Amino acid sequence: MSESQRILIVDFGSQFTQLIARRVREAHVFCEIQPPKDLAWIRDYKPTGIILSGGPSSVYDEGVPKTDPGLMDLGVPVLAICYGMQLLAHQAGGAVQPHGEREYGRSEIEVLQEGALFAGFGAGTRTPVWMSHGDRVEVPPKDWTVLASSGNAPVAAFAHRSKPLFGVQFHPEVAHTPRGAELIHNFLFKICRAKPTWTPGHFVETAVAGIRARVAGRRAICGLSGGVDSAVAAALVYRAIGDRLTCIFVDHGLLRTDERAQVERTFRAELGADLRVVDAAKLFLDKLEGVDDPEEKRRRIGHTFIDVFEAASKEVDGEVGFLVQGTLYPDVIESVSPRGGPSVTIKTHHNVGGLRPDLPFELIEPLRELFKDEVRQVGRELGLPEEIVRRHPFPGPGLAVRILGPVSPERVLTLQRADAIYLEEIRQAGLYDQIWQAFAVLLPVRSVGVMGDYRTYANVVALRAVTSRDGMTADWFPFPPEVLGRIATRITNEVPGVNRVVYDVSSKPPATIEWE
Ligand code: XMP
Repeated sequence: MSESQRILIVDFGSQFTQLIARRVREAHVFCEIQPPKDLAWIRDYKPTGIILSGGPSSVYDEGVPKTDPGLMDLGVPVLAICYGMQLLAHQAGGAVQPHGEREYGRSEIEVLQEGALFAGFGAGTRTPVWMSHGDRVEVPPKDWTVLASSGNAPVAAFAHRSKPLFGVQFHPEVAHTPRGAELIHNFLFKICRAKPTWTPGHFVETAVAGIRARVAGRRAICGLSGGVDSAVAAALVYRAIGDRLTCIFVDHGLLRTDERAQVERTFRAELGADLRVVDAAKLFLDKLEGVDDPEEKRRRIGHTFIDVFEAASKEVDGEVGFLVQGTLYPDVIESVSPRGGPSVTIKTHHNVGGLRPDLPFELIEPLRELFKDEVRQVGRELGLPEEIVRRHPFPGPGLAVRILGPVSPERVLTLQRADAIYLEEIRQAGLYDQIWQAFAVLLPVRSVGVMGDYRTYANVVALRAVTSRDGMTADWFPFPPEVLGRIATRITNEVPGVNRVVYDVSSKPPATIEWE
């Protein structure tokens, strides 16, 4: 989609780059994260403003990511953060000191001069900021003015005297910089003169028009997973092309209890689209037999999905040219590295990395630019019921990535039973909406227990529940102990073959949400 107003975020590898994008989107301005690009590319992109992210590099190191110094003469406003600021200072002839000691954590700046960036702060104001840097700007380049300083950074913020160029040593995008959002607003609205038009309504309008034009008279199929992403993607495409969309729900035999019936019911009633259900449980389970490597499971499931789609699409009248997928922005940016090369693959999400290269369809991924919470807002805008919009995410590979070790029909059944009890108790306790995602995991170990007078040697179930905003980072959910106790008692009493329940208290990072 081409937005007429867009902020380009150049990623130098900071762990906070995504937060910059979030802050800009929250201000209802469209933005995209890109690795460093050459000047011609940037000119062509026509950004309304450019934000240079921080990063782990030092401007003095070899082979570090850079931008063309010509960026400063494009006439486009630039806000450079941390490493981005040091890079500008270095390229413009300022003095950047490799500062032996890294400064990490809370600090305080004093605003010396408001400039447009600190408008509304008032000169002399002291405000807390979050620092995370090794190098620092010691002397601003000629023609640049110091706007703020801190005990540790004499040039904590600076601005060019005549061009719309700004730099901050601290991180305005993190919550630990309480007035950071104000500063980003000043950049967006006072300096870039952006308009806050990036709203769910606006998104729906442009996305629908774009899809309609692209599909023209052809047909599309959409794989529904029962989750919010594919539902919203389907609803958008349905709004654009109506009956020329056929939704296909693949029952891969790795769904939660009653999920298939629930999806059929809600989607037929709420979406109104043509829905076909394909029972492929045996096929998937055969493909997974004996496989215990997580990536291999994902790969096989991803490929089998496409095989099943192809077969199902042949049943649809007319020629199918497009496959609709609910790929989200975090899936896309996780595969972009600051140096433009492939980054480390943590998990192959089937809707991004697992597709076969000879895919017989063109992809329509209308949510490629959205974060999960934005997808939910778009879902509401499209009139989807809360039951769908608020649903916890469920991974495409389903229970296969929650059964550690090889998947078998018996193990699927055991996990389905434990998971159903877990979710039922969470709903009963009124906690469902406080949790981003909750699920049970079947571990590949057995433990000793006692039941009545007998020794047991049976399965262990791990419970996972996390809070999160967009799935990129997550914290474990602090259940009231009595709720956890009730869940554990019910699972060990009611699920044959399980004698122990443990609760996962890992955050992401360093763990991930799913276990595989
Ligand atoms: P992780 O485990 O990477 O998960 O912390 C982040 C979020 O993504 C979901 N997830 C997937 N979703 N296909 C999907 O559609 C997948 O292959 C997949 N793997 C993980 C996960 O449930 C969590 O919400």
